[in-house]
Amino acid sequence: MKKNYVKIILDFLMALTFALLMEPKVLGGLPFHEIAGLVFGVAILTHIGLNIKWVKNSTLKICDSKLPIKIRVSYLLNILLLISLSTIIFTGIFISRVVFPSLAMNGNHMIRGLQVFQQI
Ligand code: HEM
Repeated sequence: MKKNYVKIILDFLMALTFALLMEPKVLGGLPFHEIAGLVFGVAILTHIGLNIKWVKNSTLKICDSKLPIKIRVSYLLNILLLISLSTIIFTGIFISRVVFPSLAMNGNHMIRGLQVFQQI
Protein backbone atom coordinates (compact mmCIF):
# COMPACT_ATOMS: atom_id res chain seq x y z
CA MET A 1 0.00 0.00 0.00
CA LYS A 2 2.80 2.42 1.04
CA LYS A 3 4.69 1.52 -2.14
CA ASN A 4 1.64 2.52 -4.20
CA TYR A 5 1.67 6.01 -2.67
CA VAL A 6 5.36 6.33 -3.52
CA LYS A 7 4.61 5.27 -7.11
CA ILE A 8 1.72 7.73 -7.45
CA ILE A 9 3.73 10.64 -6.01
CA LEU A 10 6.74 9.82 -8.21
CA ASP A 11 4.56 9.56 -11.34
CA PHE A 12 2.84 12.86 -10.49
CA LEU A 13 6.21 14.62 -10.01
CA MET A 14 7.48 13.11 -13.28
CA ALA A 15 4.43 14.38 -15.19
CA LEU A 16 4.88 17.85 -13.68
CA THR A 17 8.63 17.90 -14.43
CA PHE A 18 8.02 16.69 -17.99
CA ALA A 19 5.58 19.58 -18.58
CA LEU A 20 8.18 22.06 -17.22
CA LEU A 21 10.91 20.50 -19.39
CA MET A 22 8.89 21.22 -22.53
CA GLU A 23 9.78 24.92 -22.10
CA PRO A 24 13.56 25.35 -21.45
CA LYS A 25 13.08 28.97 -20.31
CA VAL A 26 11.01 28.21 -17.17
CA LEU A 27 12.34 28.57 -13.59
CA GLY A 28 15.55 30.35 -14.46
CA GLY A 29 16.19 28.74 -17.85
CA LEU A 30 18.88 26.25 -18.88
CA PRO A 31 20.43 25.45 -15.46
CA PHE A 32 17.04 24.25 -14.21
CA HIS A 33 16.21 22.58 -17.55
CA GLU A 34 19.42 20.56 -17.76
CA ILE A 35 19.51 19.49 -14.09
CA ALA A 36 15.79 18.64 -14.08
CA GLY A 37 16.30 16.69 -17.34
CA LEU A 38 19.07 14.60 -15.75
CA VAL A 39 17.03 14.09 -12.55
CA PHE A 40 14.18 13.00 -14.82
CA GLY A 41 16.49 10.28 -16.17
CA VAL A 42 17.11 9.03 -12.63
CA ALA A 43 13.35 9.18 -11.97
CA ILE A 44 12.74 6.97 -15.04
CA LEU A 45 15.14 4.33 -13.64
CA THR A 46 13.46 4.58 -10.20
CA HIS A 47 10.03 4.24 -11.86
CA ILE A 48 11.20 1.08 -13.65
CA GLY A 49 12.70 -0.24 -10.39
CA LEU A 50 9.45 0.28 -8.49
CA ASN A 51 7.53 -1.55 -11.25
CA ILE A 52 10.14 -4.24 -11.88
CA LYS A 53 7.68 -7.08 -11.12
CA TRP A 54 5.39 -5.91 -13.95
CA VAL A 55 8.39 -5.53 -16.28
CA LYS A 56 9.67 -9.06 -15.45
CA ASN A 57 6.25 -10.77 -15.70
CA SER A 58 5.29 -9.03 -18.94
CA THR A 59 8.69 -9.70 -20.54
CA LEU A 60 8.53 -13.41 -19.64
CA LYS A 61 4.97 -13.75 -20.99
CA ILE A 62 5.26 -11.49 -24.05
CA CYS A 63 5.29 -14.52 -26.42
CA ASP A 64 2.37 -16.19 -24.58
CA SER A 65 -0.77 -15.96 -26.74
CA LYS A 66 -2.92 -15.80 -23.56
CA LEU A 67 -1.37 -12.49 -22.51
CA PRO A 68 -4.16 -9.85 -22.68
CA ILE A 69 -3.90 -7.35 -25.54
CA LYS A 70 -4.07 -4.51 -22.98
CA ILE A 71 -0.74 -5.64 -21.48
CA ARG A 72 0.81 -6.08 -24.93
CA VAL A 73 -0.17 -2.55 -26.01
CA SER A 74 0.94 -1.14 -22.66
CA TYR A 75 4.29 -2.98 -22.96
CA LEU A 76 4.87 -1.65 -26.49
CA LEU A 77 3.96 1.92 -25.43
CA ASN A 78 6.34 1.69 -22.46
CA ILE A 79 9.20 0.51 -24.71
CA LEU A 80 8.55 3.37 -27.18
CA LEU A 81 8.39 5.87 -24.31
CA LEU A 82 11.67 4.55 -22.87
CA ILE A 83 13.40 4.82 -26.27
CA SER A 84 12.12 8.35 -26.95
CA LEU A 85 12.89 9.71 -23.46
CA SER A 86 16.37 8.11 -23.47
CA THR A 87 17.02 9.73 -26.88
CA ILE A 88 15.89 13.17 -25.59
CA ILE A 89 18.10 12.89 -22.50
CA PHE A 90 21.05 11.49 -24.49
CA THR A 91 20.86 14.27 -27.11
CA GLY A 92 20.28 16.78 -24.27
CA ILE A 93 23.66 15.84 -22.80
CA PHE A 94 25.33 16.56 -26.17
CA ILE A 95 23.66 19.97 -26.58
CA SER A 96 24.17 20.86 -22.91
CA ARG A 97 25.67 24.30 -22.29
CA VAL A 98 25.54 24.39 -18.48
CA VAL A 99 26.20 20.91 -17.03
CA PHE A 100 28.41 19.54 -19.84
CA PRO A 101 29.67 22.68 -21.67
CA SER A 102 32.65 20.81 -23.16
CA LEU A 103 30.24 18.65 -25.20
CA ALA A 104 28.13 21.58 -26.48
CA MET A 105 26.97 21.29 -30.11
CA ASN A 106 24.78 23.67 -32.16
CA GLY A 107 21.08 23.00 -32.87
CA ASN A 108 18.17 21.52 -30.94
CA HIS A 109 17.58 18.08 -29.38
CA MET A 110 16.71 16.64 -32.81
CA ILE A 111 19.36 18.23 -35.03
CA ARG A 112 22.21 17.92 -32.55
CA GLY A 113 21.13 14.38 -31.82
CA LEU A 114 21.40 13.52 -35.48
CA GLN A 115 24.86 15.10 -35.56
CA VAL A 116 25.88 12.79 -32.73
CA PHE A 117 24.70 9.71 -34.64
CA GLN A 118 26.50 10.88 -37.81
CA GLN A 119 29.75 11.04 -35.85
CA ILE A 120 29.40 7.51 -34.42
C1 HEM B 1 12.97 14.31 -20.69
C2 HEM B 1 13.90 15.24 -20.65
C3 HEM B 1 13.90 16.48 -21.54
C4 HEM B 1 12.89 17.09 -22.25
C5 HEM B 1 11.42 16.67 -22.37
C6 HEM B 1 13.48 18.24 -22.94
C7 HEM B 1 12.80 19.11 -23.77
C8 HEM B 1 13.36 20.19 -24.45
C9 HEM B 1 12.67 21.05 -25.36
C10 HEM B 1 11.19 20.90 -25.75
C11 HEM B 1 13.55 21.96 -25.83
C12 HEM B 1 13.29 23.07 -26.88
C13 HEM B 1 13.38 22.52 -28.27
C14 HEM B 1 14.76 22.07 -28.66
O1 HEM B 1 15.72 22.85 -28.60
O2 HEM B 1 14.89 20.88 -29.07
C15 HEM B 1 14.83 21.69 -25.20
C16 HEM B 1 15.99 22.40 -25.41
C17 HEM B 1 17.19 22.15 -24.79
N1 HEM B 1 17.47 21.14 -23.91
FE1 HEM B 1 16.14 19.75 -23.25
N2 HEM B 1 14.82 18.31 -22.62
C18 HEM B 1 15.12 17.26 -21.77
C19 HEM B 1 16.35 16.95 -21.22
C20 HEM B 1 17.49 17.69 -21.37
C21 HEM B 1 18.79 17.39 -20.75
C22 HEM B 1 19.06 16.17 -19.86
C23 HEM B 1 19.65 18.35 -21.16
C24 HEM B 1 21.12 18.52 -20.84
C25 HEM B 1 21.77 17.94 -19.85
C26 HEM B 1 18.91 19.29 -22.03
C27 HEM B 1 19.45 20.40 -22.64
C28 HEM B 1 18.78 21.23 -23.51
C29 HEM B 1 19.39 22.38 -24.19
C30 HEM B 1 20.84 22.85 -24.05
C31 HEM B 1 18.39 22.94 -25.00
C32 HEM B 1 18.55 24.14 -25.95
C33 HEM B 1 18.00 25.39 -25.30
C34 HEM B 1 18.19 26.58 -26.22
O3 HEM B 1 18.78 26.43 -27.26
O4 HEM B 1 17.69 27.62 -25.84
N3 HEM B 1 17.62 18.83 -22.13
N4 HEM B 1 14.69 20.61 -24.36
